[in-house]
Amino acid sequence: MGKKILTETNLVLPRNVDNGLNCANCHLKAGTVAGAAPWLGIWGVFPEYRARSGKLISLQERINDCFERSMNGKPLDFASPEMNNILAYMRWLSTGVPTGTSIAGRGFISINQKLKPDSESGASIYEEKCASCHGKKGEGSKTEKTYTFPPLWGPDSFNDGAGMARTYTAAAFVKHNMPLGQGETLTDQEAIDVAEYFTHQIRPVYSKKSLDWPNGDKPKDARY
Ligand code: HEC
Ligand code: HEC
Repeated sequence: MGKKILTETNLVLPRNVDNGLNCANCHLKAGTVAGAAPWLGIWGVFPEYRARSGKLISLQERINDCFERSMNGKPLDFASPEMNNILAYMRWLSTGVPTGTSIAGRGFISINQKLKPDSESGASIYEEKCASCHGKKGEGSKTEKTYTFPPLWGPDSFNDGAGMARTYTAAAFVKHNMPLGQGETLTDQEAIDVAEYFTHQIRPVYSKKSLDWPNGDKPKDARY
């Protein structure tokens, strides 16, 4: 059930999701792909300090962060069956990973943050290498019930408080994983350019932004 929630989030939890995404659109193959923020081993690394929250947070809080930002939605009650089903799946995925160990391939690959983004070049890369699936206006493509190709901007996308709304975070995801099935074909510069372009299009606004990075150390690509 936890796996179903994470792969069909939109259909299963319409009250908690306010866009067109499923968790596994970014955490590819139900959270099992290195360099696509896998959930393997995640059970044993939380609670963990997060600069954005400015404190130690639990795995439940981290999950809800993605509900409120990446899914532009509402947090799950910690005691709810849905939260516990998600935790059960992540715990099962983490079987055999020693507690406190981050697996190789956790998070995203590293990308050269010294490179400066060029949005114009990003627009042409988008047109050439992304629009066929994600749409000319980043709107994705959907059947009656769900998106077959998820949107990259507009009302059904992640909000501006999401990690994916940051240029270098998005670039790292894109470089390793996109175009789908052709990961690692863009250079760092191309990934950064196209990420700058799509992250800065119109998208939902996260209302609690002013509470982020309470202790400073805000990354340079934060959107606020
Ligand atoms: C739009 C893309 C996107 C979607 C959709 C998304 N996430 Fe995330 N998620 C991210 C990014 C970006 C990170 C930060 C990765 C990093 O720190 O390198 C992240 C991190 C996480 C982490 C922590 C991973 C770690 O290694 O510390 C968890 C757990 C998580 N997400 C759960 C979820 C859940 C549950 C959902 C659905 C409710 C979800 N995510 C939906 C982009 C997304
Ligand atoms: C062949 C079709 C295809 C192409 C081309 C493609 N993508 Fe994707 N992309 C997908 C699919 C499908 C997913 C969701 C994967 C899943 O759910 O397993 C996705 C997911 C994403 C996501 C995370 C989910 C979201 O909607 O925010 C981002 C960001 C992304 N793609 C960016 C890009 C960029 C940038 C390019 C061009 C460099 C690109 N993609 C090219 C099919 C494609």
